[in-house]
Amino acid sequence: MIKVAIVIGSTRPGRKAEAVARWVHGIATQRTDAEFELVDLQDFDLPLLDEPMPPMRGQYSKPHTRAWSAKVASFDAYVFVTPEYNHGTSGALKNAIDYLYREWNNKAAGFVAYGSAGGVRAVEQLRLVMGELMVADVRAQLALSLFTDFENFTTFKPAPNHEKAVSTMLDQVIAWGGALKTLRSA
Ligand SMILES: Cc1cc2nc3c(=O)[nH]c(=O)nc-3n(C[C@H](O)[C@H](O)[C@H](O)COP(=O)(O)O)c2cc1C
Repeated sequence: MIKVAIVIGSTRPGRKAEAVARWVHGIATQRTDAEFELVDLQDFDLPLLDEPMPPMRGQYSKPHTRAWSAKVASFDAYVFVTPEYNHGTSGALKNAIDYLYREWNNKAAGFVAYGSAGGVRAVEQLRLVMGELMVADVRAQLALSLFTDFENFTTFKPAPNHEKAVSTMLDQVIAWGGALKTLRSA
């Protein structure tokens, strides 16, 4: 059985990311074809990248990098829950991704985004980043609207149709995550 991380991609006080990630996790854990874990960037307290060696070398000098590396390495696939900040992902998520390299390679990813236009521009940016990290990013994605999926732009109240979209995205992440696990073990 593969292990899938649901990554909370905002560390902003009052963030929406946590409610969205918990909702995804609640849907995911009804399945029996993979294991799911919430991974909160806040728990790792990563400063702006402060490693002297490029991540590709895997020579980490800081305890926070080693802790983040061990956590990311323990998964076969990832669901990134991302806000849209200035038509990109959050600085916190991009920084956390940049910390590592091999830990991401030959794994799968899906995206759950939110924003005024469903966070789609943040996801497009992340897809470019995934290519460089050799992460296979699936087609299905969640595009949650600040206008219709959050009451008063604040409280997360997703439209019912999104639940099916989460399942479709997870189907694809689990299929590709499983296929790439075979590749990694070969
Ligand atoms: C710095 C910043 C830039 C933002 N830029 C955008 C944007 O380009 N497009 C958009 O749809 N929403 C934008 N927003 C609104 C965010 O989508 C909204 O605040 C959301 O709640 C942020 O996610 P978080 O609460 O999980 O941090 C921006 C918010 C911030 C703080």
